[in-house]
Amino acid sequence: MIRFTLIGAGRIGKIHAENIARHPQATLAYVADADSAAAADLAQRWSAKAVGLDAAVGSSDVDAVLIASSTDTHADWIERCAAAGKPVFCEKPLDLDMERATSCLQVAQRAGIPLYLGFNRRYDPSFMRLKREIAAGTIGQLETLHIISRDPSPPPVDYIKRSGGLFRDMMIHDLDMARWLLGSEPVEVFARGTAVNAAIGAAGDVDTAMVMLRTADGKLCQIANSRRCAFGYDQRIEAFGSAGMARADNHTATSVTVAGTAGFTTEPALPFFLERYAAAYRLELEDFIAALAKRPVELASGEDGRRALLLADAAQRSLEKGTPVALA
Ligand SMILES: NC(=O)c1ccc[n+]([C@@H]2O[C@H](COP(=O)([O-])OP(=O)(O)OC[C@H]3O[C@@H](n4cnc5c(N)ncnc54)[C@H](O)[C@@H]3O)[C@@H](O)[C@H]2O)c1
Repeated sequence: MIRFTLIGAGRIGKIHAENIARHPQATLAYVADADSAAAADLAQRWSAKAVGLDAAVGSSDVDAVLIASSTDTHADWIERCAAAGKPVFCEKPLDLDMERATSCLQVAQRAGIPLYLGFNRRYDPSFMRLKREIAAGTIGQLETLHIISRDPSPPPVDYIKRSGGLFRDMMIHDLDMARWLLGSEPVEVFARGTAVNAAIGAAGDVDTAMVMLRTADGKLCQIANSRRCAFGYDQRIEAFGSAGMARADNHTATSVTVAGTAGFTTEPALPFFLERYAAAYRLELEDFIAALAKRPVELASGEDGRRALLLADAAQRSLEKGTPVALA
């Protein structure tokens, strides 16, 4: 049994709490949150114990820590876990600041703790199948990748102001997906963006963006993001190669199509990430537990987290300069 401390009892913390508590090889031992009432509620729901922040990770009966607190606390928590010698699964992103992300990775590396990041989309069964088809050569040599990722509606402007911007907050998932599927590092990033929502524009961010990546071996990837989408959470990927194409479409609540004189209709895409990626959150935890048993996994490492942030920073620079940005 792996005994977990969960840090953060918010939206995503609740999902991880349930998945840990339901996993046959895991126990949710402790929950900690800056909001002690939130920690107490979630702990009680899954028969765990709420603990204060200072006692959260040091205890000898904790085997691993899942960090699901606000982004600006991730680096501090990783360093606390490193000092206590505890393996970490941390929600994305590592941090919004490259220097801080790099310094906390160095601390984790020196301590020798396993550290993985929650790029959950790697565990979506449809995207895993895409990855397998590309690796098997079914579509020949991969040439281009199209990633479409649109949220159903924008978060509050107060969140946008603290988010680090669309590239670091939202597109970071797609940038990791691009690296994972391309199988080679992007060497050039070109971004364009606009704000269709005036309040988001006034807050200094974009809500609609297109990014083009080019790898050293000539593969091209286009990522389209929007903070709003009329038909649900739009999550699609197409991989095009010399011998064919593989495409992952949106998921709907049922697979029923209804036809009438006006044509054919299906349901909207699933509402948002909690529904669309429910399986992925379970499977990533499964692999974290496998990783602790030294089995090979697809989990994003701390270094993958740093590289995704590098691309997000480059996209932001490209947007500001209006020209492509080369990466070393
Ligand atoms: N992988 C995904 O699909 C996904 C989805 C949503 C959020 N996230 C990430 O998860 C993290 C949390 O997001 P959320 O939507 O659950 O936010 P949230 O605001 O719902 O929850 C964050 C929680 O962290 C707590 N907190 C704040 N400071 C703390 C500290 N110092 N120590 C412990 N707890 C503290 C808050 O009280 C709150 O309960 C963010 O980094 C976000 O980027 C990932």
